[in-house]
Amino acid sequence: MNHHLLLIIHLLSATIWVGGHLILTFGHLPQALKTKDQNIILNYEKKYEPVGMSALVLLVITGILMAYKYGVSLDYWFQFASPIEKVISTKLLLLFLTVAFALSAQFRVIPKLKSNPEKLAEMAFHIISVTIIGVLMLVYGSYIRFGGI
Ligand code: HEM
Repeated sequence: MNHHLLLIIHLLSATIWVGGHLILTFGHLPQALKTKDQNIILNYEKKYEPVGMSALVLLVITGILMAYKYGVSLDYWFQFASPIEKVISTKLLLLFLTVAFALSAQFRVIPKLKSNPEKLAEMAFHIISVTIIGVLMLVYGSYIRFGGI
């Protein structure tokens, strides 16, 4: 697929992934914590999850395809040897961290949060962490057009 088209899909997906998490962090989380109402978070998650997860899958697919077009194939990952490969390897590490937080939220925190508002603080930690990591991935991505880091 054409690199420009991949980039457009990547950017649209980044908008959904990062934008959705910023809305959650700044728009819904403060109210949920203030009123101790976990349903504010759970209702948002339920609506956002299918869109957000599809965006994340598209980010990974288009990101890896663009990495290959930059000559950074699987054999070069995690060597931290060249400027563009450094950015891509860092983004992959941040991606693994995101997946770890997502799995922990889905299987550890959310099932308990449904009946226990005390779990809101732990959920807030997961939400804020994934949001910061998303913003970092966006910032790292922006370095590629300047030749990497
Ligand atoms: C939350 C996940 C991600 C976000 C928010 C994100 C965001 C971005 C952004 C904003 C750009 C800047 C494009 C530009 O300069 O116009 C970018 C570029 C890029 N990203 Fe990602 N990205 C994510 C995941 C990934 C992954 C998993 C990979 C693959 C390992 C990847 C590989 C790339 C590449 C190769 C570029 C350079 C595209 C180009 O300018 O030609 N990204 N990303």
